[in-house]
Amino acid sequence: MNNLKEEYCELPSGKQPALRVAAMPKDTNFKGDIFGGWILGQIDIAGSIDAMRIAQSRVATVAVKEVVFKKPVYVGDLVSCYAECVAIGTTSITMDITVYAERVNNGRCVKVTEAKMVYVAVDEQGHPRPVPKK
Ligand SMILES: CC(C)(COP(=O)(O)OP(=O)(O)OC[C@H]1O[C@@H](n2cnc3c(N)ncnc32)[C@H](O)[C@@H]1OP(=O)(O)O)[C@@H](O)C(=O)NCCC(=O)NCCS
Repeated sequence: MNNLKEEYCELPSGKQPALRVAAMPKDTNFKGDIFGGWILGQIDIAGSIDAMRIAQSRVATVAVKEVVFKKPVYVGDLVSCYAECVAIGTTSITMDITVYAERVNNGRCVKVTEAKMVYVAVDEQGHPRPVPKK
């Protein structure tokens, strides 16, 4: 762990995370912190879960936008990804993902990453298909 000042927060109340997972030693970069690519992978999975529910089909990730790694994630932290649909187009679904880490050393919560992901509803052939209207 480095000497960055921590800004503690609460997990969003009344919401369930799309994904919750412990950061493991195999996911570290050369500095020993958790690799950004691993966090991005969790974000992609978390966003796709609700996107698939909305699409009622498979989805493909078409764009990764505005990823901000605000704070590091450390080995043993409990990582929670919260997903919110912010736009639905003809075939696309845009999700905001917010990632929190519950620190392994004290259990306190820190907002670590924010991202906007765009998914496209696809058919069995992988071609875009319209998102069903509610
Ligand atoms: C996703 C994919 C099926 C879309 O096919 P496509 O023929 O490019 O689709 P379109 O150009 O018609 O775009 C589909 C939708 O995505 C949106 N889109 C495309 N590129 C975008 C971008 N860079 N940013 C935001 N939205 C984008 C379009 O606006 C459109 O949305 P709408 O229908 O709601 O208006 C195709 O690009 C693909 O298979 N990409 C690879 C997916 C993949 O492997 N992802 C994992 C990466 S490791």
